[in-house]
Amino acid sequence: MRSIFLVALAVFAINAMATEDGAILFKSCAVCHGVNAQKKALGQSEVINKWKSSKIESALIGYKKGTYGGAMKGVMKTQASRLSNENIKALAKYITTLKK
Ligand code: HEC
Repeated sequence: MRSIFLVALAVFAINAMATEDGAILFKSCAVCHGVNAQKKALGQSEVINKWKSSKIESALIGYKKGTYGGAMKGVMKTQASRLSNENIKALAKYITTLKK
C-alpha cells in the first residue's frame, strides 16, 4: 500500500511541475527573448509571443533535433537540447499567455 501511495505522490509532483514550470523555465529564455517574449532574440529571431503554442513546440523540437532554424540555430540548439518534451510543452503554453 505504501509504495502505491508513493507512486501516486510522485506522479502528482511531476504533473504539478510540468504545468507550473513554463514560467520558471522561461527565465532562462528571457535574457534573449525578453520577459514577455516580445523581442527579436539577439536581433535575429521572430517575436515568438505572437506564435501559437504548436508552432513554438515544433520549432523547439526542431532545434533539438537539428531540423529547424536559421543562421543562428546553434544558439537555440544549446537551449533546446536541455529541454524535455514536457518542458517544451510547458514553455510553449506559457509563452502564449505572455503580454503581446
Ligand atoms: C542566447 C540567446 C537565446 C536564448 C537564451 C534563447 N534563445 Fe530562442 N532564439 C535565439 C535566437 C538567436 C534565435 C534565432 C535562431 C535561428 O537563427 O534560427 C532564437 C529562436 C527561437 C525560436 C524560433 C523563432 C524563429 O525565429 O524561428 C523559439 C521558439 C525560441 N527561440 C524559443 C526559446 C526558448 C523557449 C528559450 C528558453 C528555453 C530560448 N529561446 C532561449 C536566442 C536565444
